[in-house]
Amino acid sequence: MFLSKCRLTSVLPRISAYSTAAESTMKPKTAIVMLNMGGPETTDQVADYLLRIMTDRDMIQLPVQSKLGPWIATRRTEEVKKKYMEIGGGSPILKWTNSQGSLLTQALDQMLPESAPHKHYVAFRYVPPFTEETFAQLEKDGVERAVIFSQYPQYSCATTGSSLNAIADFYKNRQLPSNIKFSLIERWASHPLLASVFASRIKDKLKLFDPKIRDEVVILFTAHSLPLKAVSRGDTYPHEVAATVAATVAQLGLPNPHRLVWQSKVGPLPWLQPYTDDAIKSYAKQGVKHLILVPIAFVNEHIETLHELDIEYCDEVAKEAGITQIERAEAPNDHTTFIAALADVVASHLKSGPSVSKQFLTRCPHCVSQRCRSSKDFFKKLCGNLEVISS
Ligand code: FES
Repeated sequence: MFLSKCRLTSVLPRISAYSTAAESTMKPKTAIVMLNMGGPETTDQVADYLLRIMTDRDMIQLPVQSKLGPWIATRRTEEVKKKYMEIGGGSPILKWTNSQGSLLTQALDQMLPESAPHKHYVAFRYVPPFTEETFAQLEKDGVERAVIFSQYPQYSCATTGSSLNAIADFYKNRQLPSNIKFSLIERWASHPLLASVFASRIKDKLKLFDPKIRDEVVILFTAHSLPLKAVSRGDTYPHEVAATVAATVAQLGLPNPHRLVWQSKVGPLPWLQPYTDDAIKSYAKQGVKHLILVPIAFVNEHIETLHELDIEYCDEVAKEAGITQIERAEAPNDHTTFIAALADVVASHLKSGPSVSKQFLTRCPHCVSQRCRSSKDFFKKLCGNLEVISS
């Protein structure tokens, strides 16, 4: 169930951007815990960030991972540092997540006085603020209610699943706080306001093309790829990404052709295709000369948009391939409609959502991971017996 757009937009203009005054001075009642992978804020964090990714078996599975993972991380550190230097010295993901969180909680304070004050917490997987520190902090703050909110709209066992497993790990040797009621939003791929913001970002870029060829511009929706092994296990990510694409195309209502392509593959094993760079080259050969890239699975700018899409694909691959014009749609970032989407997802959840969905509690059909099994059991217990807020 989604709240009406009218109600949301009537709340949002009164929100002052980035003001965290209410968040910092009042004891929070409801915590909104924003999960994401995170990115190094400075190049000093790159080595540790890579090490954590390469040794996370939920994210990536390597043979003899405890040895090969650190070896790959060390080998790649200098190259990845250079990329961060080329985008200004670090990832802006923490800055964007904090901005989104502040705007979101201001909206919620106005929409749902029953659960106010709301406070956002950031829980990253591979850089500070780490998941464990954040959960310790919200316990310390004495919140009554905590909504665990994945910032990956499309669920994958490798991303949201990994963050949730980290929460389960944190509570392995620690008593569950009996005074906090927890619940989980693990996916929101086809939310209409999420599709609206992507449609709006695309329209902003379409305006930059000559009106004579505007309808011919091919829209390439691009998402982080996934190993085919995970797809065959039954990971829901590919069809959830496709759902966001379909909802966005429906909202656009334009004749432009579109395709879904996949970026950021690592290692030698097969991943979901077609790859974004290959698609740009092949379209150029077919005579397609005008493209828009739309990062459909990222809610804020980070290395995959600012470096991989902007520098490697738009500046280098497209130019070499002979593309006449290529534009990259901005990530949702702090777009008003995006904040409205976040607020609607959380408010609807607080008012009527299940504390944990059956969809989340069901494992992939070919999952044999004991870690997944115990993590699902943990969340069933963590989020059990929660009453919803009455309006
Ligand atoms: Fe998807 Fe285990 S791999 S639930």
